[in-house]
Amino acid sequence: DAVKRIFSGIQPTGIPHLGNYLGAIESWVRLQDEHDSVLYSIVDLHSITVPQDPTILRQSILDMTAALLACGINPEKSILFQQSQVSEHTQLSWILTCMVRLPRLQHLHQWKVNAKVQSPLQLFFPSLGTMGLLTYPVLQASDILLYKSTHVPVGEDQVQHMELVQDLAQSFNKKYGEFFPVPKCILTSMKKVKSLRDPSAKMSKSDPDKLATVRITDSPEEIVQKFRKALTDFTSEVTYEPASRGGVSNLVAIHAAVAGLPVEEVVRRSAGMDTARYKLVVADAVIEKFAPIKSEIEKLKMNKDHLEKVLQVGSAKAKELAYPVCQEVKKLVGF
Ligand code: ADP
Ligand code: NA
Repeated sequence: DAVKRIFSGIQPTGIPHLGNYLGAIESWVRLQDEHDSVLYSIVDLHSITVPQDPTILRQSILDMTAALLACGINPEKSILFQQSQVSEHTQLSWILTCMVRLPRLQHLHQWKVNAKVQSPLQLFFPSLGTMGLLTYPVLQASDILLYKSTHVPVGEDQVQHMELVQDLAQSFNKKYGEFFPVPKCILTSMKKVKSLRDPSAKMSKSDPDKLATVRITDSPEEIVQKFRKALTDFTSEVTYEPASRGGVSNLVAIHAAVAGLPVEEVVRRSAGMDTARYKLVVADAVIEKFAPIKSEIEKLKMNKDHLEKVLQVGSAKAKELAYPVCQEVKKLVGF
């Protein structure tokens, strides 16, 4: 199907890590070059599903803006905006909330994961958690449908939520007549980047083990230290065997991704090297990749007015697209 409009969002909380960069942000940069109508949202409404400190949240929104710009998101090529500045997101969200039943949300795998992170008791007593934690996938659906998006770049973990978006588009169309395109996933080819400390888990910003996650703003010393402490095994050779050698294979996958080389080529080049030395080679490749991004972030963060302006201009552009769609939806619903 023709790609008419692409939408994707990222929460402002936390500095992006290697997994976010390779699994999402890098493909966002590519997509904005390849397509005409691309929207990227800093989804601040989503971040308050868990408690946030207002001062820190405000700062995180600007930090994420700086990080995305530094990674190559270009407001001339895509619309970069702040979700909460476009009030139509919450308006559509209410309308779609009235079209979904409670069990549909309770059965979403990600809800179970998120609820468990907050408190395991929530699994059995959803009323212990906030309604936001349960219903945010409906807000996600609104984010996407509000722009009549046709394609959404997502990680594997979000595929189930995309099914909800597709179901909601179809139910709306069935009830009110053909209106929303049923959006499709664009899956990034990259397998999940794994935790450096536990290759059976994905790298995540919420990992309590500080050595497991490499952030794009880490200093070269921190990056070296994290790779040095990366979990490998008793075989010293560098090979790519994800099933039996998760740790080393993760290093190879990271190396291949940041160097822009096939996995086989990376393995070939490291013939005769032991994993202890190889860790430093991978660390160097990551340092080299992130150095220009890191210094650009530092530069951008000194100009708060500029960052605010970027979001204002982007949000005004998004609003221009969202407003007429929301008006039409309201008319269809009977308002
Ligand atoms: P986290 O799990 O660290 O909180 P998010 O859920 O905010 O990350 O993910 C933001 C984007 O980054 C999503 O598109 C997600 O699929 C991608 N992503 C997150 N972690 C990884 C990873 N370890 N490897 C690849 N992509 C990832
Ligand atoms: Na573009």
